[in-house]
Parts: sequence; C-alpha cells; structure tokens
Amino acid sequence: MDGGPDPGGEPPALPPDALPGSDPPAVLGALLESVADAVYVVDHAGTVRFANAAALELLGYREDELVGRPSHAAIHHTRPDGRPFPESECPLLRPRITGEVVRIWEDWFVRRDGTMVPVAYSSAPIATADGRGAVVVFRDVSDRRAAEQAERGAAVERARAEELERSRIRIVEAADAERRRIGRDLHDGAQQRLMNVALQVRQALAAIDGERPEAAREDLAGALDELRATLAELRELAAGIHPSILTNRGLAAAVDGLTGRMPLPVRATVPEVRWPPAIEATAYFVIAEALANVTKHAGASLARIDVRERDGRLLVEVGDDGRGGADLGAGRGLQGLADRVAALGGSLAIEPGEAGGTVVRAALPLPGAMSG
Ligand SMILES: Nc1ncnc2c1ncn2[C@@H]1O[C@H](COP(=O)(O)OP(=O)(O)OP(=O)(O)O)[C@@H](O)[C@H]1O
Ligand SMILES: [Mg+2]
Repeated sequence: MDGGPDPGGEPPALPPDALPGSDPPAVLGALLESVADAVYVVDHAGTVRFANAAALELLGYREDELVGRPSHAAIHHTRPDGRPFPESECPLLRPRITGEVVRIWEDWFVRRDGTMVPVAYSSAPIATADGRGAVVVFRDVSDRRAAEQAERGAAVERARAEELERSRIRIVEAADAERRRIGRDLHDGAQQRLMNVALQVRQALAAIDGERPEAAREDLAGALDELRATLAELRELAAGIHPSILTNRGLAAAVDGLTGRMPLPVRATVPEVRWPPAIEATAYFVIAEALANVTKHAGASLARIDVRERDGRLLVEVGDDGRGGADLGAGRGLQGLADRVAALGGSLAIEPGEAGGTVVRAALPLPGAMSG
C-alpha cells in the first residue's frame, strides 16, 4: 500500500519533513503539545513516530522510550483480563490498512510500569511520506468507568432494597395470616373444648346437689377427657408456633423430632451446635416445610437433611428422590421460606437434584462472620 492519496483519500498529508523522524513543524508541534487529549502517530509499520506530552504522561513514558517502538507491542499487547491481545485484531492499527476512522468507546492501554489504564480513542488514517499511518487520539476514562460502576452498584443495591421491602411486606402479611390461623384454631379448638368442660362441671355440680353421684361422676370423667384433649391440642399448637425443643435443646434435637414423624426414611446430618435463635428457627422452618412438601408432593422413597457451617454461613439442605417439579410460585410454603431467609440476608435455592428429585438449599449468614 503506498502513501499517496487514496481514492476516498481524505487524510491530509503531513509535510514530508514532519514525519517520520524529523520534528513536526513548530506550529503543529506546539499545537499537539497543547491539546488536552493524548495524541500519538504510528507509521505504516505501526511504529510510534510521535507522541505528545499528554500521551507520554498518561502512559508513563519518556519520549525517547516510546517513539521508535512498535505501538501494539508497547502499549496494547494485553487485555485487562491478562490474555494477550493479538496485533492482527488491533483496531488501533486498522486505519492504516482500511483508510477508515475507528472509534472505540472503551479499551485498555498498558503503561510503562505494566499497569493498565482504561481509554477511549479514535484512530484515523494519516498519509505520511512512506505510507499510510494512523493518528490516535485518546483519553483516560477511569473516572467515567468508576462512575458507571458506581451507578451499576447503586442499581443492584436499589433492586436488592426493593426486593427486601417486598419480602418484608410478605413477612408481615404472612405473620398476620398466621395470627388469624392461630386465633381460629384457639377459637374452634381449645376455647370450644373448655366451654364443654365448664358445662360438664356445672352439670356435675348440679348432679351432686341433686344427690346423683353416678351422673356427677360421668360428667366429671367427660370433663377430664375434654381437658386431656385440650392439653394435647394446645401442645401441638405451641409446637407449630415455636417448638420448645428448639429453644431448649437446639436444631439437631428439633430435627430429630421432625424426622421421627416422617412416613419415609430420612438421613439427617445436623451438628450438635447452638446458633443464634433466629438462625436456628429459620433453619428449622426450612427443614420442616421442605419435609412437609416431600410428604405432600414428592412421592419420594428417601429424604436427606444436611446442615453444615461453611465460610461464615449455615448451609441447610433438604433433598428427596421424588418426582421433582417444586415451584416457588405455586404455594405459600416455599415463598414464605424465601422471605424468611431473605430477611436474614440469606438465599434460598430450589433445584432439581443431581439424580432427580428436589433439593431445597438455604444459606444463612452467621452473625459476626465477615461477608464476601
Ligand atoms: N419436594 C417436592 N417434590 C415435588 N414437588 C414439590 C416439592 N416441594 C414443592 N413442590 C411443588 O411446589 C409447589 C409449591 O410448594 P409450596 O410449599 O410453596 O406450596 P404447597 O406445599 O403446595 O402449599 P403450602 O406450603 O402453602 O401449604 C407445590 O404445590 C408442589 O407442586
Ligand atoms: Mg408446602
């Protein structure tokens, strides 16, 4: 390719003595030194023939260290992830061949000290006495990048905050629904039974006054039965709200209580360790709901519970070998778990098991552990 004006050839020719080798004429030189953007010129071979003060400063070179070196090998040889940048793919050098201007919004240059600087640039063809070269105008875009990154971080943070807010609302609604359920259970159950007890005791008193001891005995025996049933019902209700075994003896014992009632074999590995009450309660309800789902939906022959600490988090896993197809959106149970777990800053995943079935996985950050 020769250096003469090409057909579409707009690039203005520099005076023959300007490049290569000789100093640019005084005016041109002064101008290039004064512009705020960094400028360098490569010749047809891709060798740097000129670099202004801004370019040298940004790249950390003295003039005699950069001028005369192949530009790609000097400042553009590596990508930011450390992989080599092949010269054949270099957009900076392309205008020498195509005659077209290249504009790049973001790329990276390597400084003399090996550090990398994000840059935006244009590279335009320029005719020189011994062939077409390119003039590259570039600027450091670190600030813009930092601002963009901050904006992306803020957007993620906003989305997280919004999701947290939604999950808070769901938790409050779930708590209200739970209170209504407990109120109903108490009203229809224990309250009704105690009213029966009062009635039977009143009848017994009347029977005693009427000197009908057999009738009084019968009423009192009925009252006793009713009291026993009430007690059992209250115990069950209390266990559903918060099992006392969890508070008294911890997660391992509470999980034992759950698996004992399962209609299928469950292999549980739970360390005999105490964690903060909120962590233990959330882990317990994850396991309880997941086991309830296994019983209701999975058609499984086996379930597995795994609890362990790793990297400052409590990992809770419940797997089964059933038909799979668990769906967070389909009921209240799994969504409630997701909310509970999110409220503690943790995460819940519901996935198909490697060998079929379903795996419910919660990761709960343990307080005091450094995150990240
Ligand atoms: N282990 C599982 N195996 C197969 N399907 C499951 C399993 N767990 C959940 N599912 C499916 O995902 C759906 C959602 O479960 P989720 O626990 O949220 O609701 P639910 O159990 O139907 O009702 P709720 O928990 O509110 O009483 C279930 O209806 C069921 O179809
Ligand atoms: Mg459920």
